[in-house]
Amino acid sequence: MAEMAAIVPPKWSRYALEIYMKREPPVLGTLDWLKLEGKAREKLKDYPEAFNYTFGSAGTKSTEDANLAAFKDWKIVPRMLVDSTQRSLETTLFGVKYPSPLLLAPIGVQGIVHPEGELATARGAAKAEVPLIMSTASTRAMEPVAKENGDGKRWYQLYWPRTDDITLSLLSRAKANGFTALVVTLDTMLLGWRPHDLDTSYLPFGHGVGVQVATSDPVFMQRNGIPVRPDERPEFPYDPVKADKALRSGDQTQMINTKLGTGWLSEGNSGMFRTWDDVKFLRDNWDGPLILKGIQRVTDAEKALSVGVDGVVVSNHGGRQVDGAIPSLYALDKICKSDVIREAQRDGRFTILFDSGIRTGSDILKAIALGAQGVLLGRPYMYGLACGGAEGVEQVCRGILADAEITLGLAGYSRLDEIWGKRDEFMTQINWNGKD
Ligand SMILES: Cc1cc2nc3c(=O)[nH]c(=O)nc-3n(C[C@H](O)[C@H](O)[C@H](O)COP(=O)(O)O)c2cc1C
Repeated sequence: MAEMAAIVPPKWSRYALEIYMKREPPVLGTLDWLKLEGKAREKLKDYPEAFNYTFGSAGTKSTEDANLAAFKDWKIVPRMLVDSTQRSLETTLFGVKYPSPLLLAPIGVQGIVHPEGELATARGAAKAEVPLIMSTASTRAMEPVAKENGDGKRWYQLYWPRTDDITLSLLSRAKANGFTALVVTLDTMLLGWRPHDLDTSYLPFGHGVGVQVATSDPVFMQRNGIPVRPDERPEFPYDPVKADKALRSGDQTQMINTKLGTGWLSEGNSGMFRTWDDVKFLRDNWDGPLILKGIQRVTDAEKALSVGVDGVVVSNHGGRQVDGAIPSLYALDKICKSDVIREAQRDGRFTILFDSGIRTGSDILKAIALGAQGVLLGRPYMYGLACGGAEGVEQVCRGILADAEITLGLAGYSRLDEIWGKRDEFMTQINWNGKD
């Protein structure tokens, strides 16, 4: 009798098999994101403000709650006896093939949750083959992050400086360091009303932490008359009380860091709002894909297309900016119903990415079925970083992608293009009113 060939699990699903076969539970000890959140809280218990900075949202947290609840309104309807033995999450974005639709959302000040901060994330992302979107509010400079990321794919997120020559300097550094796409965040021209940080007066930037893209920038530093710091690594843990004490005692280093920190905040998150007319400057000075992050309205998505940008991230910043807002998934559904947008997506002129609330593999699939072409993962990888550094980030990525690929197969599909934009075939809407 001919021997049956063993079925080799597809790329991402293999992770589950490895865990079972090796009898080695994952390094973080859990793949349940809520438990992981609890572990990160425990890990950071001596500096709870750092955990709260990551965990917290604007106002009453209602937008973040709505983001998560919105996924529950959509339920996958699995189909049977379809051959989904071979599966792939392969995705093409802006002409580049990626092994999955997942990207790491730009997240600032990672050095408050782990001593290696963004460097660890850059390594973990590269190992997991997930592109990194580096934040302008990082605790490391672009150059060392790019180096740690090595052959990994990376994009750069811009908090739009007030001064054009600083903007141009950031864009040229991004280009020189292999950041291939530019993501411009529109929803944070000033920080949201964040009670969790306001209650403890917690703002690392004010002490010069999270401004390392600036302290490594020749234009910004020359303006301040201070030599460039090409690879500054703020002390871990960041201790605001210690920094205040140093300031009070007239410590020169801390005084300079505070001056740089507040100077940088007033560049990028100054309270000065940009308008659509300003986008032209970025379009004229960035020749790679230009993506606007923070879009929630259909008319804004259409406007973005008409001013010549290449795509948008449908995002509400994880509920950290406007309290009482619509869930980002709801915005995605509306935007992807626009004929103008769908047509531009189909003929490759426009790309829709999604974030705010992605927690599981099925969340990824639901966003794709609603019409997203890629999704950004936020808080969960920060919890991975806090608990396990680079390995923690890698594990969170591999876990959510294995979950997605397995769920895709179990739902009766083999590839993402089979479900892309097919919301009513892949899912059904059940109104749970945010409860189940
Ligand atoms: C701690 C923290 C810091 C963030 N920093 C940035 C940032 O520097 N730039 C940016 O565009 N978005 C930033 N974001 C927003 C994320 O890119 C993303 O939109 C958000 O995390 C998605 O929500 P979720 O994590 O609840 O899924 C930050 C989010 C968190 C949680």
